[in-house]
Amino acid sequence: MADTLANNAAAEPLLTAEITDERAANKKMKIDHPALETSNTTGFGQLSELQKDRLRHKVDIPDILKVPHRLVDAGERDMNNMGDILALFPSLSKGSLKLCHLSAADGLEKTEGPPMNVGIVLSGGQAAGGHNVIIGLFRYLKYRHPGSTLYGFLNGPRGIINNVTKVLTADEISKYANLGGFHMLGSGRDKIESPEHLKAAADTCKALDLGGLVVIGGDDSNTNAAVLAEYFLASGSKTKVIGVPKTLDGDLKSPDVPISFGFDTACKVYSEVIGNIMVDALSAKKYWHFIRLMGRAASHVTLECALQTHPQIALISEEVAAKRVSLTDVAKQIADCVAQRAEAGLNYGIVLLPEGLVEFVHDIATMIAEINDILAKGVSPEDIGKVESMMTDASRAVFSSMSIGFQKQFLEDRDPHGNVQVAHIECEKLLIGMVEHELKTRGGVKFSGIAHYLGYEGRCSMPSNFDATYCHALGAAAAALLGAGKTGVMAAITDLEKPATEWKVGGVPIVTMMNMELRHGKQKAVIKKALVDLDGEPMKAFEAIRETWKMNDCYRSPGPIQFKGHHWADAATITLSLELAGGKPILLRDANDPTSF
Ligand code: FBP
Repeated sequence: MADTLANNAAAEPLLTAEITDERAANKKMKIDHPALETSNTTGFGQLSELQKDRLRHKVDIPDILKVPHRLVDAGERDMNNMGDILALFPSLSKGSLKLCHLSAADGLEKTEGPPMNVGIVLSGGQAAGGHNVIIGLFRYLKYRHPGSTLYGFLNGPRGIINNVTKVLTADEISKYANLGGFHMLGSGRDKIESPEHLKAAADTCKALDLGGLVVIGGDDSNTNAAVLAEYFLASGSKTKVIGVPKTLDGDLKSPDVPISFGFDTACKVYSEVIGNIMVDALSAKKYWHFIRLMGRAASHVTLECALQTHPQIALISEEVAAKRVSLTDVAKQIADCVAQRAEAGLNYGIVLLPEGLVEFVHDIATMIAEINDILAKGVSPEDIGKVESMMTDASRAVFSSMSIGFQKQFLEDRDPHGNVQVAHIECEKLLIGMVEHELKTRGGVKFSGIAHYLGYEGRCSMPSNFDATYCHALGAAAAALLGAGKTGVMAAITDLEKPATEWKVGGVPIVTMMNMELRHGKQKAVIKKALVDLDGEPMKAFEAIRETWKMNDCYRSPGPIQFKGHHWADAATITLSLELAGGKPILLRDANDPTSF
């Protein structure tokens, strides 16, 4: 039988990861309960029974990876009107800007190639499944040639700049299979963009003799990947750069990249907690819960969680922006619902809001833009008076109506990509205060608001079956693209509406996903953020049903992520089902497949 990714001996330890019994190591400690024993395994005092079970989980592998294959070019994206972007990437633009995917190669015994040194870096915020990308990449590299070496850069892009790596082995990485977090390597938000950093990156790649570098990141990190690819090509470096779409925000997607990894898991974790809070609200009948959800700019997470749980109100930033609603208007609309429910004796409810809301409400967005400009001129964020004095009258009025605590949140340092750190702005508390104020002016409506923020707790969960499987395929895709000599390309797995064994494995040139945006006061070519499409199927489904949820309690509590026991454990998000399958549930395996549960 031909040697394939599925039966490759070098990959085998990953499927049969030896799970050490920590109890043996702690015999002498006389600890009574096994859960209290410690042995410091991969950063954990010990692995829980579920973590051990997840280590044993075998993900499905797309069939195309199990047979000899080669990469073939597919369609092209329309690059008219993108001249200014292409001009910034002259070397990449000279090559093929076609989509590509793996196709069966009849007559070949195996998909072989020379040994390759490859580096991998985790960049930006954590998202569930990152470890499986590394495992998929490693397995493919070893399958292609057992002499290949995978270097993990430590603590994000700065690991590339400073050449800080560890060589990854099957034994090492198998300890992280199907487990959450980025702690196998650590992550970071540094950018490789200045001439010095680009040179340092090239020097590192040369020193390690890297044929390939894989960047696992969000839109900004993948933009950086294209910048690096261009620089390496132009400077004669042999290192090819491949991106992998990661972000729980779900906003790194395009017609060619259906979803970023981590979105599925984060939405499932948040929906579980929202469901629990709903049941509490229904029991106590005295609180309005305002739940802010992570997701930076776009509202995909909030929309998916709303579809999963059916709150009274879910604010969608993109809609708020399109309707040019002010934050005061938003508060008034919520107050209307609170008053209406109070009249019906329902003094409780659930409001979901995306953490990026403040950047979309037009009065606050204008104020933030002004603050960005003022800070870009070198004014210190500490000097609140000076910043305030340089604002327009309208923005100053908004700013001065806020407490000093909120003012400071808006002035906080931007991240290295120039983004406001929306995760630190407590918009749910701001809104509760405004709703309270509004209701007071209306006289006597009972209202007690409780603020929640669901953010960091969703990023490092054990990945859902979907993310675990998807990430493994993405890693293998990245390796296949490198094997075929591609650079400046993002790994893309498509046909996700089909069972995982039928997924298409390929890539998309990163520049085809770019647009020009104002960053730090300058126009830059960056990957276009995919915001919620107000005419898209998920939004339409939400619009059709949301009025019913206001006065009727139609709560849905999905419970914790299921890994086994029912084919629903393999279901992807409702968003993906609506976008790719006309609302039909998407399962990793055919529900009639007897091995699916
Ligand atoms: P990425 O875009 O890098 O995946 O990060 C997304 C995110 O989790 C946002 O949802 C959140 O606003 C932000 O990171 C928080 O950043 P930090 O981890 O630096 O506090």
